[in-house]
Amino acid sequence: MSERVCPVWIGYLLASPIRKMFQNPLTILQPYIKEGMKVLDIGSAMGFFSIPMSKMVGNNGKVFSLDLQKKMLETLGKRANKAGVIDRIELRNCSAGSLNINDLKDEIDFALAFAVLHEVNDVSTLFKEVYTSLKSKGRLLIAEPKGHVDEKDFSKTLQVAKENGFVFLMQPRIAKSLTALLEKN
Ligand SMILES: C[S@@+](CC[C@H](N)C(=O)[O-])C[C@H]1O[C@@H](n2cnc3c(N)ncnc32)[C@H](O)[C@@H]1O
Repeated sequence: MSERVCPVWIGYLLASPIRKMFQNPLTILQPYIKEGMKVLDIGSAMGFFSIPMSKMVGNNGKVFSLDLQKKMLETLGKRANKAGVIDRIELRNCSAGSLNINDLKDEIDFALAFAVLHEVNDVSTLFKEVYTSLKSKGRLLIAEPKGHVDEKDFSKTLQVAKENGFVFLMQPRIAKSLTALLEKN
């Protein structure tokens, strides 16, 4: 596993309710997620975003929570059970080289990649896979931690997204983050 990958103990911190004071998942995602949608949470860790996403998509929607680390997904599973939303969440263990979403071609309405791209060795393959999984006009919101990722590296990541077909729409304001909202052509 890459040295850059977030350790499990940080996963617990990232899932803390205190984080909602400056990064509220409902406020961040409300413009993009509607009931009945199928959505991806890429690098979900313990579900700080996946669990609110599952409430937003409702009974007829689905959240695919993708993570490299089984321990993150196990804890997410327990938290989702407790929250009564496990039926709406599919936990998928992926590998460093693939998100394991080849079966979701043109099915996804919205994808989130929050604080994960700087941990990924091959972002081009990741963008390709996400692009393929999205419906036409499906959206991908990316956010990277300011301070950890600089503007120059973020621009390079955006360039790779564009090379893989994504159209840049806007930069939503999210605290402590560099962001981009992208759309499938
Ligand atoms: C810094 S955490 C962010 C977690 C979550 N998105 C959040 O904001 O709370 C990054 C997560 O991405 C996962 N990750 C790293 N590389 C990945 C990859 N190539 N595919 C899927 N998940 C990955 C890590 O295991 C970790 O759980």
